[in-house]
Amino acid sequence: MSESLDKLFSPPRIKRDAAALAIWGCDWTRSFPVAPSAVVFPETIEEVQALVVLANEEGLQLVPSGGRTGLSGGAVASHGEVVVSFDRMNRILDFASADRLITCQAGVVTQTLQDFATRQGYFYPVDFASAGSSQLGGNIATNAGGIRVIRYGMTRNWIAGLRVVTGTGELLDCNQGLVKNATGYDFRHLFIGSEGTLGFIVEADVRLTRIPEPQQVMVLGFEKFRDILKVLSHFQSLVELSAFEFFSELALQKVTAHRELQRPLADGAQFYALLEFDASAAENATAAFEHAVTEGWVSDGVLSQSDAQAASLWQLREGISESLAPFSPYKNDLSVRISEMPEFLDDVDGMVRACYPDFEVCWYGHIGDGNLHLNILKPEDVSIDEFYHRCHEISPQLFELVRARRGSISAEHGVGLLKKEFLQYSRSSADLKIMRALKMVLDPNGVMNPGKLL
Ligand code: MLT
Ligand code: ZN
Repeated sequence: MSESLDKLFSPPRIKRDAAALAIWGCDWTRSFPVAPSAVVFPETIEEVQALVVLANEEGLQLVPSGGRTGLSGGAVASHGEVVVSFDRMNRILDFASADRLITCQAGVVTQTLQDFATRQGYFYPVDFASAGSSQLGGNIATNAGGIRVIRYGMTRNWIAGLRVVTGTGELLDCNQGLVKNATGYDFRHLFIGSEGTLGFIVEADVRLTRIPEPQQVMVLGFEKFRDILKVLSHFQSLVELSAFEFFSELALQKVTAHRELQRPLADGAQFYALLEFDASAAENATAAFEHAVTEGWVSDGVLSQSDAQAASLWQLREGISESLAPFSPYKNDLSVRISEMPEFLDDVDGMVRACYPDFEVCWYGHIGDGNLHLNILKPEDVSIDEFYHRCHEISPQLFELVRARRGSISAEHGVGLLKKEFLQYSRSSADLKIMRALKMVLDPNGVMNPGKLL
């Protein structure tokens, strides 16, 4: 136990009781041991810096913790680390209308940021099911994606400036919220997606855009996955899509049972796509739908007639992850180029059928971005250890398929602990060498989120 840590933080800003360690020591993954030694709650950048200096002096290891909604174990503390929660650094510091920028502390909850932007007459477009609890710092550290990437891109696209405390305790002011800045290496992009392994993101300047016009939602049924991609291309030639999401019949069954929702279409289908677009594009969207029916790509469809109906159609997609949680899913978050998706899916489907004949496999994802979530569900009569062991054993085969198509083994969930041993399927040895070298520069004593990513 570090006495100096108690000099920096006194209760309630330091916690060591078992309940607190269990809550702040993990994320949404449930397969890793949770054993931090303490949780601290800094309130200022200076406190974060002092903590990092102390960690270097005393050999403490620090795990950054935001809303703890991660799915790869990036915020899990398994080995007596000190968890650094940003719950008390949750203030919106500034809004600059002319710059269209909001400056926030790292602990601001995504939804709070979205709502604040809307009250100023602007829009923060990065959105996902966990927006009500995920924090901006965590979103940046994992370069979070979500449901509107097809139109707005990932978190990276919206970060105009970052303040970061590195693993040596230095404060970096990256890009200062500038639009144009041609002064060499842009460190912002090094920290975005670095999963807290290089430093603590303490503040960010977040870009905003115009509030979009009202949206309409369409859900379509398909018998063949290939046809989904044809429909995507056809719609994109006529309509600016805000979302193009996908889920399988099994995913639909799980979510409708879990949330007691109505099925969207009278008849079942193998696959479904959920499309969102500006209401003013509804006429073009209807024409695209009719063409898709004529071509035999789509079996049926529904177009929302009100905001309430649009919201309930969205629940069919957004509720899937939560509906699968009771099945302790083994999660995969894969991406390939959109053009590679049909062949990739055939390969993966063939492999999964051969390797997991006795497991339920649930498909969903952000198909418009080339991002597929493949969840393998644990049968009741198989122990969690055996289940994870079997899934893990087969992962190399799956990731070989990803590598063959130059895809990613983690499109948006991050690497954390879950995918760490498989990183070489997506990153070359030259990449990994440079990543390790950067880690040595910014965190030479390895105090920052040890054991994650690399
Ligand atoms: C989603 O797309 O629903 C999220 O990434 C969560 C998940 O994959 O389970
Ligand atoms: Zn997702």
